[in-house]
Amino acid sequence: MTASSAEWLRSQPTLTGTPPALDPSALPDVPERLFLEWLSAAIEAGVPEPLAMTLATVAADGIPDARTLIIKDVDRRGWAFAGSRASRKGEQLSLHPAAALNFWWQPVMRAVRVRGRIVEADAEESAADLAARSPSARAGIGPGEWVLWRVVPERVEFWQGAVDRRHTRIVYERTGESWTHRIVIGHTDNPPNGEISA
Ligand SMILES: Cc1cc2nc3c(=O)[nH]c(=O)nc-3n(C[C@H](O)[C@H](O)[C@H](O)COP(=O)(O)O)c2cc1C
Repeated sequence: MTASSAEWLRSQPTLTGTPPALDPSALPDVPERLFLEWLSAAIEAGVPEPLAMTLATVAADGIPDARTLIIKDVDRRGWAFAGSRASRKGEQLSLHPAAALNFWWQPVMRAVRVRGRIVEADAEESAADLAARSPSARAGIGPGEWVLWRVVPERVEFWQGAVDRRHTRIVYERTGESWTHRIVIGHTDNPPNGEISA
């Protein structure tokens, strides 16, 4: 037993993994394309449960809440996930239709962060998602209770760690219907907003 948990935690390895090659001059114009490229690279690299993500919402008391979910679909409409309307997340999303998602793919030292407002899919799409679940996963879910939601992103950040800690961030920001992106390479783990672009 060590003197303090901080000391013990400092002795544990963090930021491990092997980042794939990244060509900053060959980035797609839209974040959903880069996301799908990174997701397929994660799948090919054997990342366990690459579809698992953290969904953060805002509760009535203003305090964020977060839990793990499975990504259901990604396209120009947004990042889709599903759950029960009667759940805490369902209540929070009806109160504050905004959310953030975070993916972390440790073996490839990559993470993706998505932030935006929430749009509920129509009843047919939500019903189709429920119908695609296994019979045991459908059990006990009443009609209209299962909802497919989409995060319509305003900002998507792709983070790739580096062994020398010169981590790369690719930040996509929406302006109307189009996207701009910039690349930030930093020595620190947490550069301020607006750090000089590489
Ligand atoms: C790997 C993993 C995947 C999960 N996928 C989902 C999901 O797709 N939808 C869902 O409603 N809950 C999913 N859960 C359960 C949620 O983490 C959470 O416990 C549940 O949705 C209730 O959250 P809430 O009380 O904030 O609404 C998953 C949990 C894990 C660990």
